Amino acid sequence: MITHVRSVALGVPDLRKAREFYEKHWQLEVVESDGERLYLGAGCQESHVLRLRESKETRVDLLSLACESKADVDQIAANVSRHPDAKLITEPNVRQDFGGGYGFHFLDCDGRTVEVSSNVAWRSFRPVEERESRPKGISHVVFNTQDIKRTSEFYRSALGFKISDWVEDFFVFMRTGRQHHIMAFVRAKHSSLNHVSFELLGLDEFMRATGAMIRLGHQPVWGPGRHGAGDNAFSYFQDSNTGFVMEYTTAMQQIDEAHGWTPQVYSSRAEDRDQWGTANPFDEIVMTTLHGRPDPGLWTPPPI
Ligand SMILES: [Fe+2]
Repeated sequence: MITHVRSVALGVPDLRKAREFYEKHWQLEVVESDGERLYLGAGCQESHVLRLRESKETRVDLLSLACESKADVDQIAANVSRHPDAKLITEPNVRQDFGGGYGFHFLDCDGRTVEVSSNVAWRSFRPVEERESRPKGISHVVFNTQDIKRTSEFYRSALGFKISDWVEDFFVFMRTGRQHHIMAFVRAKHSSLNHVSFELLGLDEFMRATGAMIRLGHQPVWGPGRHGAGDNAFSYFQDSNTGFVMEYTTAMQQIDEAHGWTPQVYSSRAEDRDQWGTANPFDEIVMTTLHGRPDPGLWTPPPI
């Protein structure tokens, strides 16, 4: 079973500027650099949660998903390789990236490069303390897709995801364990990254993180507020060097399947998008920012 999103890798036009944003402003910690790639960690055991590479094209390089054991990697790889909409890039083997372990790579139905891995070395880290505004790790990743039914069906049948809820017919939230969503998909004109979401310790820490970004001159694209579906708090900010949108979140709903779960269809009314009513309206600018640009990295695994 996929347990969580381990990390995301991005190709960025200016590595120095990207480091400034993700280290100084977003409060991740540089843990490793191999000259070409920069690895950033958070307040969790993952070797890194973000990998940055300088690239002419601004693109998503990799989505890295975690599972529990080598047997799980092998089983998921067998399932993916049988799927007509997947393309295997590497067979399960010793993982070559920072942190080592065991894993394989494939292209999903929209051409995103995805890794599934286990046994990645843990990093000794300083846990986030109360009132501290740095992220604990990745909460979830949301992608735009031209065919939301096909993409969500791919993640269900190839990788074992379940549908938690919908917003109308254009936003689907997917889980593998108790957390309401670790991935979600949004219907759009093109496939691209919608946002990467980072988890804060609690509501106080979430507000402190939001305020720290505002004090550094970043106005939230959308938020702070609290979503209906997933029940999580949200503040979205744009990394102006790349156009990518990052979210701070906390307090997401946990699903106990022992009590049964039937996916709900939420409306796109303001009360469902933001229970608190504190966020700016979800207008055309917010939507366009989250839809981003078509990703030039689709169907092309990163060079390193
Ligand atoms: Fe989100």
